[in-house]
Amino acid sequence: MDLAQAQDLEAHYLIPTYTRVPLMLVRGKGVFVYASDGKKYLDFITGIGVNALGHAHPRVLAAIRAQSKLLIHSSNLYLNPYQGLLAQRLTALSGMERAFFTVGGAEAAEGAIKVARSLGQKIAPGKIEIIALHNSFHGRTCGALSITGQPRYRAPFGPLLPGVHFVTPNDIADLRAAVSERTCAIIIEPVQGEGGIHEIDPAFLAAAAELAHQHQALLILDEIQCGLGRTGKPFAFQWTDVQPDLVITAKPIACGYPLGVFMARGPAATVLDAGTHGTTFGGGPLACRLALEFLDALADGALYQNVQTLGAQLKQGMQALARKHKFVTEVRGKGLMVAMELDRPAAPYVNRMAELGLLANVTHDTIIRMLPPYIAEPKHIDQALRILGKALKLKLPSA
Ligand SMILES: Cc1ncc(COP(=O)(O)O)c(C=O)c1O
Repeated sequence: MDLAQAQDLEAHYLIPTYTRVPLMLVRGKGVFVYASDGKKYLDFITGIGVNALGHAHPRVLAAIRAQSKLLIHSSNLYLNPYQGLLAQRLTALSGMERAFFTVGGAEAAEGAIKVARSLGQKIAPGKIEIIALHNSFHGRTCGALSITGQPRYRAPFGPLLPGVHFVTPNDIADLRAAVSERTCAIIIEPVQGEGGIHEIDPAFLAAAAELAHQHQALLILDEIQCGLGRTGKPFAFQWTDVQPDLVITAKPIACGYPLGVFMARGPAATVLDAGTHGTTFGGGPLACRLALEFLDALADGALYQNVQTLGAQLKQGMQALARKHKFVTEVRGKGLMVAMELDRPAAPYVNRMAELGLLANVTHDTIIRMLPPYIAEPKHIDQALRILGKALKLKLPSA
């Protein structure tokens, strides 16, 4: 199968939701991926923040090999040897008490909404309102879209869930004005990812926790993109003193195999009981075993440190490039979640980067986003910066 054949098949048979980069990736090793024409790319988007251990990591391959011989899927009708253990490890890491495993991020967001609404309605009828942030992203299912603060994603699919209010990130007064006794949850990404790598102020997070507490509402943190080491700590909220009531995470958790989770503490941890929620695939034996492998890889702390060190190197290098190019309006980052915002469309630059052998992606039209693997080395950051520097020399008109 070559690229042209794959493009032709997709053009005829796929529901046309994706605008693909014209590259067919066929294999990966460490921080690199290889396309069908044999060309090698430094992978600084990692399947949108998923391949944190890079590609073909020996311990991941060994776990897949061993577990696939035993049992890949068994459903949640039965116990498997890994789900309870994984829940124990993840709740210890996050300060939560109980976990529910899903297939991905949006399904975890859906679960969080169900927890919040069912608990809210137990407290008082009509306590179902959710406060979310403008510019947020929580997934593409209808519930997750309902709390996603970007009209362009929501517009064609209404009516979505009622009772959702959007407030401006970091505007505590706006948040305070929106919270009421009808609020059952406030949901925040501690670092907005798809929104363009915007870190939420610790003071705003603390205010959200306090307001949620005062109003018997839950503080839900969406750590699907910024969690599990991406910012250099197990969870991004751990850079602050805030303790959420519910945490959702997914992306890198099972080393590329689909898995997500919502975790809760206090009354939120037990409000869903037998028969109130379920999923066929979530938390299967292979997925959970891989997630345990991922947590083992993080356990000695070295990768968190690497993420912090390399993140600083990447951000500083990008800031130096920004000083050379007036059309770069801002560089933002936390750990290995880094963005460069331009005053013009970013796609030509990202395409040029790909031509030069570096994969990143565009978000919000004008933002170059990088989510490098945690196992990268300083020389890979240097290589990425060299390529980015060359790509930024493209001469293009401003938007
Ligand atoms: C913060 C955040 N929440 C939710 C999602 C949705 O996750 P998924 O695509 O696995 O459904 C994403 C995906 O990019 C995300 O970044």
